[in-house]
Amino acid sequence: MSLEIAPSILAADFANIQSAVEMLNDSEADYIHVDIMDGVFVPNISFGLPVTEAIHRHAKKPLDVHLMIVEPDRYLEAFRNAGAANISVHYEACDHLHRTLQAIHDLGAKAGVAINPHTSVELLTDTLDLIDLVCVMSVNPGFGGQKFIENTYSKVSKLKELIIQKGSNTQIEIDGGVSLNNAQKLKDAGADILVAGSFVFNSKSPKETIAMLKRA
Ligand code: DX5
Ligand code: ZN
Repeated sequence: MSLEIAPSILAADFANIQSAVEMLNDSEADYIHVDIMDGVFVPNISFGLPVTEAIHRHAKKPLDVHLMIVEPDRYLEAFRNAGAANISVHYEACDHLHRTLQAIHDLGAKAGVAINPHTSVELLTDTLDLIDLVCVMSVNPGFGGQKFIENTYSKVSKLKELIIQKGSNTQIEIDGGVSLNNAQKLKDAGADILVAGSFVFNSKSPKETIAMLKRA
């Protein structure tokens, strides 16, 4: 199976967001990854609902929305209405993760859980049957363009084992510092979806870069 690629719009030129979305429509990208940062859960603010809606208006690919916000339950419906196909919340931001995952499913979206580099995959054992995708953070969330954390490979292998053991259909997504230097190794460890921001948008031909990542 080839990898699915979710380019992160965070690395696009926000003054030309429509052309970035059109480029992605025209590429082999499987999703458009949308990074929502609130300045509280992470030390940075990105953008929110109106921008997500605007991306959705032009997008022909499903939106993979990554909520790096506190109290995500308050905004699930709003992001679903803004066009999110997948909604990922952070494990560290949820006191009642089981309930949150059910709420995402009730809205008809796929439910994702993002885990920070310090969060062990074993903590997802008892909710795995409700998780459509685990977003393994391979950088500390908050900024694009950071260095990939090498410990990610072993987390992905462990998570893959857990998924097989539980017999769930959960996909593994990797987010942060993804490039052609680690794509193949991540795939071998069990990754299904790669998020890539700066590596795609800072390259000479983003479309070709997406195609190359997909073939890793
Ligand atoms: C980090 C975000 C990532 C980021 C990835 O907080 O969740 O999705 O945009 O960017 P790169 O690929 O540049 O690390
Ligand atoms: Zn992200």
